[in-house]
Amino acid sequence: MSQLRLLPILMSYPILTRYQPAKDSFFFGIKLNVMSTNDTIVTIDGPAGAGKSTVARRLAQRLNWEYLDTGGMYRAAALLGLRNGVNWNIPAELTQVVRQHSIEGRDHRTFLDNEDVSEEIRTPQVTQFTRFSADNQDIRAIMVDLQRKSAQDRSLVTEGRDQGSVVFPNALCKFYLTASPEVRAQRRFAEEQRKSHPDSYEEVLRKINYRDEQDRTRPVGPLVEPADAIRIDSDGKSIDEVVSEMERHVRRRSQETLS
Ligand code: DC
Repeated sequence: MSQLRLLPILMSYPILTRYQPAKDSFFFGIKLNVMSTNDTIVTIDGPAGAGKSTVARRLAQRLNWEYLDTGGMYRAAALLGLRNGVNWNIPAELTQVVRQHSIEGRDHRTFLDNEDVSEEIRTPQVTQFTRFSADNQDIRAIMVDLQRKSAQDRSLVTEGRDQGSVVFPNALCKFYLTASPEVRAQRRFAEEQRKSHPDSYEEVLRKINYRDEQDRTRPVGPLVEPADAIRIDSDGKSIDEVVSEMERHVRRRSQETLS
């Protein structure tokens, strides 16, 4: 067959497949821009307070897959900065510290040099300083690399802001989990009541709106809704309903990729 007659077949290849370029493939020595699905990755992105962690954990359990909390990794980097007293105005200082330590998400926990810091990274102080790691381009590159490595040889439900858009563009299923700021604030406000000095509902809502703004305007790895993501609005839905909806999508996609 002449190369000219092959052209329409070659050109239709990326249209027939649904996902973004994952690897180089060759056809009679010609490099093709092949889009292949990574059928062991499910991504869940969305704004703070949408319930991503709970839903991702439960979905991973139902699928018998691993769960990765990427927000925990950025939080652990901020904790390193606090422990080492870095100058937050010099981003390279934090990068240097992060390079000297290991951050790992495993067994639904976050580890810093094998120390389980899952509780410590949730303090308001760490939350406040996490923007310095999440906004740091070099730290993001390190995290993206770690996240991709942790997906090697295992099936993963991974949750964050950039998992479907940047880290795993060829994931089997990408979800964008959202809820209105008011509903998210209501849920956080209910959690606040367990604390000795709970924030008022207005304060919780203000913090939610502030974090949304930070997440969306981040110069690198901002929160975006991938064009090929399945949007799930959790307003008025129980956790179980959301997880079941996701599970149905994942199982259907898995079947499609097998057939
Ligand atoms: O999901 P979380 O609240 O634990 O995330 C902590 C912070 O890290 C949050 O401000 C957004 C940021 N983050 C990010 O920039 N990219 C991710 N993949 C995950 C979290």
